Amino acid sequence: MAEKAISMQLSGKKILLAVTGSIAAYKAPLFVRLLVKAGAEVKVITTPAAEKFVSPLSLATVSKHPVWNNVNDGATWNNHVALGLWADAMIIAPCSANTLGKLANGLCDNLVCAVYLSARCPVFIAPAMDEDMWLHASTRHNVKTLRTYGNHIIPVAHGELASGLVGDGRMAEPEDMVKFLSDHFSDTNKPLKGLNALVTAGPTYERIDPVRFIGNFSSGKMGVAIAEALADKGAKVTLVSGPSSVYTYHSGINTIRIESAEQMYDECIAVFGKCDITVMAAAVADYRPEETADHKIKKTDKALDIKLVKTKDILAALGALKQPRQLLAGFALETNDEIQNAKQKLNTKNADLIVLNSLRDAGAGFGHDTNKITIISSQGSLSLPLQSKREAAEAIVNKIVELRHAEKTV
Ligand code: CTP
Repeated sequence: MAEKAISMQLSGKKILLAVTGSIAAYKAPLFVRLLVKAGAEVKVITTPAAEKFVSPLSLATVSKHPVWNNVNDGATWNNHVALGLWADAMIIAPCSANTLGKLANGLCDNLVCAVYLSARCPVFIAPAMDEDMWLHASTRHNVKTLRTYGNHIIPVAHGELASGLVGDGRMAEPEDMVKFLSDHFSDTNKPLKGLNALVTAGPTYERIDPVRFIGNFSSGKMGVAIAEALADKGAKVTLVSGPSSVYTYHSGINTIRIESAEQMYDECIAVFGKCDITVMAAAVADYRPEETADHKIKKTDKALDIKLVKTKDILAALGALKQPRQLLAGFALETNDEIQNAKQKLNTKNADLIVLNSLRDAGAGFGHDTNKITIISSQGSLSLPLQSKREAAEAIVNKIVELRHAEKTV
């Protein structure tokens, strides 16, 4: 029965297996065999060190595809971008401590690292090493970093290690890795499947003249992390993003790029009606210059006065349009009386949930990769510790799933 369920999830899926230099590589042919048996198409790449532990001939035979281990084989260039695009999922198993360190730091001296950096599909990493290496602070740091990049870490197993010691660090068993992958493709992990979501991200720029604008320090990281967390749970996401250098290639996200608060308002109003979930993470300008000069304003000896007028409050406008089936979440960036101000925003903007950021918390707010948030709804508030923006995004999305579920069961 369990085997049948696994086959349903993996049948027709394209899996790219990257094998690196660890004794656990001897289990790779069995892992490929199980994936193929479940109906997946499997291609294998290796690092040069992996071939000391497992033969490319075995891997090619069980996968029924050639095995590549180099970006070029003398005269032929192996297209790492094409391999990353081909796959529905990439799994690096076993992933040695050395490769883990390279991936966490963007190093790219072999085919596995090059494919990893160019892959747009979900990436799964199954570490394998001795317990002391696994517990070393640098390995902990690398695993944490890779997780914050959105990679899925397959937990190591406890047991006998190559050193003869017993402890943590063994690669998960091939059967367990197949199950992990199949769970990823399963609908039970996608409570938002069939729902539409709208997320805003980044700053807005309000033009003064063709070369100057009023903006803010928002990076767009938090909004993108929320869009990805919603899409991972199955939602079809429209991401309306202000000027930001943060991009997402998630297949469940359609990104619309805008510049000003007015453009963000227009795009949000256009799609809001069909959205079940909306999260306004953008730092929208509250004021814009009344006039935008059509030429560069020249410097003079006098002071320059620019009259600012209010922009439209997008969250409040969506709150006024909100229907009972729709869930609306906003952010509150505060420097003082945080909880009180955030609760007020919940009411005045007719939101179901407000995510509070305090600029008084170190590591929270603009530009950082971390955030410290409090999630406030009519049911109460939940304060979370400093964590990666990815983890904070997952906590927000879990709360949204919980609120939707509570709504349905009332
Ligand atoms: N927001 C919006 N449109 C605006 C301003 C803000 O949609 N013109 C949204 C933000 O995306 C965020 C929420 O409103 O979800 C709160 O933003 P924040 O800047 O904290 O509050 P403001 O409403 O701008 O109020 P204040 O600046 O006075 O705190």
